[in-house]
Amino acid sequence: MKVVETVAELRAARAQLSGTVGLVPTMGALHDGHLSLVRAAREDHSAVIATIFVNPAQFGPREDLSKYPRTLAHDLQVLEKAGVDLVFTPSPDVIYPRGFQTWVDVTEVTQRLEGEARPGHFRGVATVVAKLFNLTQPDGAYFGQKDAQQVVVIKRMARDLNFPLDIVVCPTLREPDGLAMSSRNVYLTAEQRAVAGVLYRGLNAAGQLYASGERNPERLRQQVLRTLRGEALVGPEYVSAADAVTLEELHTISLDPLLLSAAVQIGSTRLIDNLVLPLELNNRADLSRVMGG
Ligand code: PAJ
Repeated sequence: MKVVETVAELRAARAQLSGTVGLVPTMGALHDGHLSLVRAAREDHSAVIATIFVNPAQFGPREDLSKYPRTLAHDLQVLEKAGVDLVFTPSPDVIYPRGFQTWVDVTEVTQRLEGEARPGHFRGVATVVAKLFNLTQPDGAYFGQKDAQQVVVIKRMARDLNFPLDIVVCPTLREPDGLAMSSRNVYLTAEQRAVAGVLYRGLNAAGQLYASGERNPERLRQQVLRTLRGEALVGPEYVSAADAVTLEELHTISLDPLLLSAAVQIGSTRLIDNLVLPLELNNRADLSRVMGG
């Protein structure tokens, strides 16, 4: 496995790869969720490139950029074991050299949900991902359902800017109590961690309600909220039942796939999670087809 830090080294190493290439962009602090993307890319392509870059442009001024977990030695070990061919670990000045002033702004699907809570976040994400696509020229790029709106934004950008690649969406990997794996879970105290599974329980309760025939989006949102309110340490920020293609909030009954998502605050940590309904769609092939259209 080759590890490179500069654009010149990356372009040279990319040119050496033959066959199709799968790209897995990450911010490091890798867990099994990240590795599931690597495994999917490994299945689909002759070579896999992973990137590790804690992208300052997607963090707000009051967010956790400086304390974001960094575990590079461990990350490289697990990527090598997972069969990655090439890892790009640039420093911020490689991605944003002096004078940098070109941004990718996806205008509509970035407005609500995470975009509302984190202004500028998706501009940072879209810009760095566009750069990584240009730098690595992949045939497929792998993203997690966990960050559902990110998937929709990246798909929109790839279409609008004519990136010739497939966007593949991999289902969320979870801890035994249902908590979605996340690099940010390490911020939770033992007491907070013990109740964090309620986020998935709430989404799943609404998923079961949907399975029993409920199609009223307000009742699905209420079911999630009721479950979340059962835990005093958990502060719900939003609960959304949106069209899985457009992310438009639903107010009337719709028979199309629906993205049920929520954000909560537990202490100073913000957690997000989602399920696509019907629940049978939460697999790689269907998610890749349905999310963002
Ligand atoms: P990061 O949070 O490191 O996540 C990298 C990829 O792993 C994302 O596509 C994310 O959705 C996926 N992922 C995270 N947790 C997952 C889980 N439990 N199951 C499945 N997939 C999971 O997302 C980013 O980095 C950045 O925004 C990035 C795309 C790298 C741009 O900077």
